[in-house]
Amino acid sequence: MNINGIHYRTIWHKPGEPPILQIIDQRYLPHRFVIEELKTLEDAETAIRDMHVRGAPLIGSAAAYGMYLAAFPLEHDRDFDEKMNIAAKRLKFTRPTAVNLAYAVEQILGSMAKCSNNKAKIAAILQTANGITEESVEHCRLIGQHGFKLIEAIFQKKQASPSIVPHPPSAINILTHCNAGWLACIDHGTATAPIYAAYDQGIPVHVWVDETRPRNQGASLTAFELKEHGVPHTVIADNTGGHLMQHGMVDLVIVGTDRTTRTGDVANKIGTYLKALAAYDNKVPFYIGAPSSSIDWGIRDGLKEIPIEERNADEVKWISGLDKEGQMREVLLTPTESPAANYAFDVTPARLVTGLITERGICAASEGGLMELFPEKIGFNFTGS
Ligand code: MRU
Repeated sequence: MNINGIHYRTIWHKPGEPPILQIIDQRYLPHRFVIEELKTLEDAETAIRDMHVRGAPLIGSAAAYGMYLAAFPLEHDRDFDEKMNIAAKRLKFTRPTAVNLAYAVEQILGSMAKCSNNKAKIAAILQTANGITEESVEHCRLIGQHGFKLIEAIFQKKQASPSIVPHPPSAINILTHCNAGWLACIDHGTATAPIYAAYDQGIPVHVWVDETRPRNQGASLTAFELKEHGVPHTVIADNTGGHLMQHGMVDLVIVGTDRTTRTGDVANKIGTYLKALAAYDNKVPFYIGAPSSSIDWGIRDGLKEIPIEERNADEVKWISGLDKEGQMREVLLTPTESPAANYAFDVTPARLVTGLITERGICAASEGGLMELFPEKIGFNFTGS
């Protein structure tokens, strides 16, 4: 995707040795564009845990490259495997909900296991990290193509029966929560990929962007992406979606996923469940951009089995942004003494999900639906964490 007309990915490996990873440090967007260099395992851990990078596919890729940063200095180390197992545990611990991270780390450990010496292991780790990253880009591109057909069909139906809906009546109004855009991935995005595809093909789209408290990924990141791409959008307070749906002002909801069970339950950013309830009550289609790297084939019950990350309460109590002089400021919203709770994700049961948009096509949010698209997973029981 482009920023100021220049194409960027969210993470890239700078060729040369010792290895350097470059990332867009998302803590400063939309006000400042900062590229950060990661050189050590500790740098990668910090970047993931403190959300310099975030979003399920991106933290998968960052963890894979984090394993490479951990491996590189160990070329002549006799305890290579033991130290890499410790690195794997540390990286998996940074953010527990998105299964992409655990999968990526497991893939790296698997690639190492096939090699007989440290040098070969390090080369295999880099190759696997590159592979995970490229595959993620391709999966997002394909999600865009499949999801595009959905938007196109709604557009054709809407054209055939023009509505009296007040907010751009001719446009397809799509609501999204959090940032499941290219900033959350390597490129394209999951939930946003169909939107970009539709916009690029001339379908009039307008996006309702949930601000997504407490970290405001919608207001700061999704709005930034859409603005850079020229997609019409409006930022709304988190509690607005239900009202818009009741008044026919949302044609479609598309959000991302951090972990989807093999039965179609979906963990995504806190607040997603409430949007799904409102969509269900108002018969608004509710879709998930779901690359297979976000599907945990080893679990069936999202509420019982998906670990929900709890983050520092200060993220709820404090908010940051630009003041009128253009300075970045953090301000306290609550009484100093008031405690706050910060659950980062919630689970939307499959029954509220209209469909999953995967890289292989769109399916029902059910075990049957997923098995039709991914028959090789019928007996598969591995869980990422
Ligand atoms: O806490 P974050 O910002 O990492 O949460 C991101 C989300 O919830 C996204 O919707 C999800 O990772 C899907 S990303 C394509």
